[in-house]
Amino acid sequence: MIGYGFMGRAHSNAFRKVGNFFDLKYQPVLQAACGRDEAKVKAFAERWGYQSYETNWRKLIARDDIDVIDICAPNDMHPKMAIAAAEAGKMILCEKPLARNGAEGEKMVQAVQKAGVPNMVWYNYRRVPAVTLAYNLIQEGRLGRVFHYRAKFLQDWTISPDLPQGGAALWRLDAKVAGSGVTGDLLAHCIDTAIWLNGPIDKVCAMTETFIKQRKHNLTGKVQRVGIDDACAFLARFKNGSLATFESTRYARGHKALYTFEINGEHASIAWDLHDLHRLEYFDHRDEGKIRGWRSIHVTDHGGDHPYMDKWWVPGLQIGYEHSFVHQVADFINSLDTDQPAQPTFRDALETQYVCDAVLQSAKTGKWEKVKHVK
Ligand SMILES: NC(=O)c1ccc[n+]([C@@H]2O[C@H](COP(=O)([O-])OP(=O)(O)OC[C@H]3O[C@@H](n4cnc5c(N)ncnc54)[C@H](O)[C@@H]3O)[C@@H](O)[C@H]2O)c1
Repeated sequence: MIGYGFMGRAHSNAFRKVGNFFDLKYQPVLQAACGRDEAKVKAFAERWGYQSYETNWRKLIARDDIDVIDICAPNDMHPKMAIAAAEAGKMILCEKPLARNGAEGEKMVQAVQKAGVPNMVWYNYRRVPAVTLAYNLIQEGRLGRVFHYRAKFLQDWTISPDLPQGGAALWRLDAKVAGSGVTGDLLAHCIDTAIWLNGPIDKVCAMTETFIKQRKHNLTGKVQRVGIDDACAFLARFKNGSLATFESTRYARGHKALYTFEINGEHASIAWDLHDLHRLEYFDHRDEGKIRGWRSIHVTDHGGDHPYMDKWWVPGLQIGYEHSFVHQVADFINSLDTDQPAQPTFRDALETQYVCDAVLQSAKTGKWEKVKHVK
């Protein structure tokens, strides 16, 4: 595993737990953690039970006792690391967004296809049981024709003009490293879920804003222009004819990670909220009139086809954020040696990248932009 920050911890936790709860074809072995600071990566490796550590990611990839490379480094490192790992014949798990833009993502897709190595991107919200249940209900045709898709991802942690950009933990504010602001960081999650639930997006019309135009850069020490989008809102038309609105910002005072979506179909509607992630709200117009209304499904049942829940506790006891990563590891391992790769693959994640590209392009041109699709 490369990178021992937020995602390094989330993934390590998942690798350690997954074998205790899921029946797996193969057991993960925590062979090595990699980071540039020797003291820190050593302490991380000891704490999480890695058998060794490396301070140079190229050395890690060259090791022949490692089968899977897990990329938990900032976005600008994803292409270099993934392409090198593919060339070394390793399986690859890569954090989202796949890359900073579609052109980089295309090279990554080509590399894994040429090498024929299993690959997956950590769009983990797909594996929150309530979100997987939403997918299953849609697949069963319960919504009928879909008219509307509405998604939001709201935060408030960059409002202070004194917050610097760049370097550890603040690389997200540095456009060179992150590629974009809320579009690639937060809306990418919303877009991945949306494409999975409602199919491809045909065109978009966007606006973005950078509220704080200059910030001190942690690495150069100078006050520099801020190149990321602080906020982004866009309209979209899906290929299935439905209309969508997406909004994300890091300036919504009071909101820390409010990811919500709602889908309105001809017969039924679905709504989900990350702050209440074990619940799925469902309304079905075909219910008998006197009891018709929004029902709040506590997605914790075993007999009720609630995804993943029979692996955890007894019905009624909920699980949380970190479990979505455990589910993703389980699905990846159990997809090996089958002809059904665990999704989203690099190829699937490239589709999201193309939507992000079109959104940023539209924000520049002020026009509707067509979304490119993976061939
Ligand atoms: N799936 C999700 O919900 C989710 C959530 C947060 C972050 N992410 C993604 O995960 C990735 C990492 O984000 P994070 O929040 O964990 O960041 P972070 O800043 O907490 O950690 C990044 C880690 O990468 C290491 N790193 C940077 N350059 C490196 C290099 N050249 N060699 C080795 N290690 C290097 C850093 O030292 C640090 O340990 C990003 O791509 C981000 O978009 C995904």
